[in-house]
Amino acid sequence: MCGIVGYVGRSDALEFLLRGLRRLEYRGYDSAGVAVIDAHGHLRVVKAAGRIEGLEERLRADPISGCIGIGHTRWATHGPATDVNAHPHIGGNGLVAVVHNGVIDNYLPLRARLEAEGYRFRSATDTEVIAHLVDSSLRRHGLVREADHREAAGEALVTGLDLAKADYAPLVRAVQEALVQLQGTYGLAMVLPAWPEVLIACRLGSPLIVGVSEGEHFVASDASPFAGYADRIVYLADHEMALMTADSLRVVHRDQGRIAHQVQVLDLPPDAVDRGGFPHFMLKEIFEQPESLRNAMRGRLDRDAATARFGGLNLSAQQLASVRRLVMTACGTSWHAGLVGEYQIETLARLPVEVEYASELRYRNPPLEPGTLLFAITQSGETADTLAALREMKRKGHPTLAICNVVGSTIAQEADGGIYLHAGPEVGVASTKAFTSQCLVLALLALYFGRLHHLSFDAGMRIIEQIEELPDKVRQALETNDLVRQIALRYCEANNFLYLGRQFNYPTALEGALKLKEISYIHAEGYPAAEMKHGPIALVDAHTPSVFLMPQGPVYDKVLANVQEIKARGGPVIAVACQGDRQVRQLADEVVEIPAVADFLQPIVSIIPLQLLAYHIAVARGCDVDKPRNLAKSVTVE
Ligand code: F6R
Repeated sequence: MCGIVGYVGRSDALEFLLRGLRRLEYRGYDSAGVAVIDAHGHLRVVKAAGRIEGLEERLRADPISGCIGIGHTRWATHGPATDVNAHPHIGGNGLVAVVHNGVIDNYLPLRARLEAEGYRFRSATDTEVIAHLVDSSLRRHGLVREADHREAAGEALVTGLDLAKADYAPLVRAVQEALVQLQGTYGLAMVLPAWPEVLIACRLGSPLIVGVSEGEHFVASDASPFAGYADRIVYLADHEMALMTADSLRVVHRDQGRIAHQVQVLDLPPDAVDRGGFPHFMLKEIFEQPESLRNAMRGRLDRDAATARFGGLNLSAQQLASVRRLVMTACGTSWHAGLVGEYQIETLARLPVEVEYASELRYRNPPLEPGTLLFAITQSGETADTLAALREMKRKGHPTLAICNVVGSTIAQEADGGIYLHAGPEVGVASTKAFTSQCLVLALLALYFGRLHHLSFDAGMRIIEQIEELPDKVRQALETNDLVRQIALRYCEANNFLYLGRQFNYPTALEGALKLKEISYIHAEGYPAAEMKHGPIALVDAHTPSVFLMPQGPVYDKVLANVQEIKARGGPVIAVACQGDRQVRQLADEVVEIPAVADFLQPIVSIIPLQLLAYHIAVARGCDVDKPRNLAKSVTVE
């Protein structure tokens, strides 16, 4: 969803702001804007509804420059995607420009009060109340005179001012006084023309990271804009405010005052967020899967004990051995991975698993006994519902673990422990490599819990060998790309698709249908294959393709019978089956062959042609694959 960038240093802020906003495009947005304080201390704001290209066009027509500024991509919540509603928003008297991620729940009463004070609102956003509140607070603290004075004295932009020598305490107090009135969530960046050397960033429930480099500081809502700019980062926690000049960084906590901040090394090469020669991030990420899977298993296979090992679970072997039930919670694709995990863990470890939509779990009050361990599965680590469900389970005293891709994200920090995917940045809005890495990490957990209970050493070793072969099997599955593209061209005009699979491949069917829906806007339904007789079969006709997942395994014959049922009603069938399957060739209209793997790993291989099918159909229909309409990469609102 919305993205924030900010810069203070000695270079032109706009260069980083626009580059950074482009790198945040994947989060999903519908307008963009920047605010820069120019060399004369004037605040210059340019905004545009639509894509960043529109903003750039306006900036070409009306160039601005300065060494401090903020930028934003907005995903509309309060008010439509218009120029006026785009961020930054300006406090009443131009004392502050603010960009905001999150939602202010009490913005209506605040707005009424500010209007009564004489503030005139220009937008329909909740964010504008923040700008006016800060403005009002600066006035109440008598800081406006100082602002006027500095402007009147024509002070040049001061870079490199040392925070240790300057007294920013009154400014901090005024901003904090405004913030305590807000109910809801915010990640905020602001610049104030009266303090043209200071960039301010504040966080409550919406992530913000400070980037540190020689003679410059950055802020962003995730680390991707920093690649090639900052080599060190500082994660802000809730109620923290960062004050940055070119050369200094100070972090202040609402209750504790100034606090020591921890600087961490950022290992993000500049090309990590580039397309690397692929036409779309999604295709690049699909093809990265052999490598992302290798990264997910690296160092986690323990041949001496025939099990998996994890560094960050933060639970003792005794605590883990006493786990009686797992609850997995997630949204979207990550929820599908949770379903795969349910099959894997119940089969290999014989532990009961329940998979709950996070948006349901957060308000449900299911009876959960002691011995229940919660896994929050999330690529971004910022999904609002998953975070809320995790907090609810923590509140009830259950241990919580995160399976997460983004290092340092809110869920990764709030869970008691966790497992990182190490899949690298996932930029395409449609999740691909994160899904397969999640399924693999869950397979490793199945092995781990299995070995804690009944799985023999030999069985553990066999599983390790199967897992080690996986990246190469996925590489082979990727070789279907050309064939899948041809199939995509034949069926891209269809208005409905069915995706059908059983057992381990039932979640794969759900995930294949979701991929098609979200990037090609074709209606698609995933079902357990046999269930289609109970309703969806009514949809079958010559224009409704059914995609069957039918690798060899215990339910192969059953799925083959389901294929017959579809063919008997004139429906076209696209089958994803094992290499050398002759039977299916006699029935299906199209067959995509994938290598055979153990059943608990099948979803990781069989999803590959489905990701490619969705991708090629979306391209054939002229859709914006990496930025599908209405979607956001990281869903930070409820
Ligand atoms: C679909 C997709 C979404 C996400 C969902 C959860 O391709 O990406 O369905 O899976 O929004 O996001 P995370 O995993 O970041 O919690």
